[in-house]
Amino acid sequence: MGRLRKVISFGIVLVLATALLTGCNNRTQSRTSDKIKIGVTVYDQYDTFMSQLVQCFTDLVPDDVEVVVYNASQSQQTQNSQVKKMIEEGCDVLCVNLVDRTDPTAVIDAARKNDIPIVFFNRELVEGDIGRWDKLFYVGADAIESGVMEGELAAEKCRKDENVDRNGDGVIQYVVLEGEAGHQDAIVRTEQSVETLINKGIEVDKLGYAIANWNRAQAQTKVAQFIEDYGKSVELILSNNDDMALGAIDAYEAAQIDREDWPAIFGIDGTDVGLEAVRDDKMCGTVYNDKEGQALAMYRLSLILAKGGSIDELEDEYEVSGGKYVRLPYSKVTASNIYDYLAR
Ligand code: BGC
Repeated sequence: MGRLRKVISFGIVLVLATALLTGCNNRTQSRTSDKIKIGVTVYDQYDTFMSQLVQCFTDLVPDDVEVVVYNASQSQQTQNSQVKKMIEEGCDVLCVNLVDRTDPTAVIDAARKNDIPIVFFNRELVEGDIGRWDKLFYVGADAIESGVMEGELAAEKCRKDENVDRNGDGVIQYVVLEGEAGHQDAIVRTEQSVETLINKGIEVDKLGYAIANWNRAQAQTKVAQFIEDYGKSVELILSNNDDMALGAIDAYEAAQIDREDWPAIFGIDGTDVGLEAVRDDKMCGTVYNDKEGQALAMYRLSLILAKGGSIDELEDEYEVSGGKYVRLPYSKVTASNIYDYLAR
């Protein structure tokens, strides 16, 4: 599907959801048909990866299933109200991308009171919380795997391309761009990518790190500062996601630094724009965060739960751990396999 059409159809779903926001206040009254109804709330619709994941999800939904999507705009309070609204609107199952992964109490309590199962996705709640009710599930990926793969990609690049160590001191000067503090993917990816690099025998020297909250513009500002502080001495940038890696590229382009003087830049996600940057040789590689696979697992699980079934029904196709978690594998993307991913 063309990107424009994707954006437009996501827009339509959101408009529909907004219209429904003004709707009824009683669960049975507001039910307009016998269709299964899935309610989705996303922590921030302007997050590149999340908007693509939600788009994949809505693309899967056939006409005889209804879906409403809400944007929580980075407010847990807003999300709590949206959950109540979706329950009143007669949703049979909820898919929740928590704003604050440490604060799911209001969401869980509202769903439990009305016996509506929840599939949390992408922003992982802690074990103690998911264990609070047997109708709480999680679909996502294994953060450790993504960090390890990013470290492996970077180690291979450092080993194979002597130009990465531009000053020839045998040590790679690097910086890390981190996602939101407190997000499982940010903490773990940072730790694992650096640890893997070191375990692979690359000698490294950390020049700095910056928290840029998954955001391209924030990353550009932070990297512009690194350029001011360190000039061309940064040799490697490990970014927790593609959007921040793209912000780093924006900073090098804005500073009019020649491509051969850029550090090797790595991201995670394989968003459309991230993949294009790999194709155009601006980013050295990324780790594919399987949004299509996650959307499909969420959709399948939602349907099963809406019909009163059990997560066990997924066991033939997915590894279900602890009766609650479905995690899709990551994969590595470089110039050598980029066209396989661009074709997805
Ligand atoms: C993605 C980020 C995204 C974040 C949102 C992560 O898994 O890699 O790009 O911003 O999830 O929660």
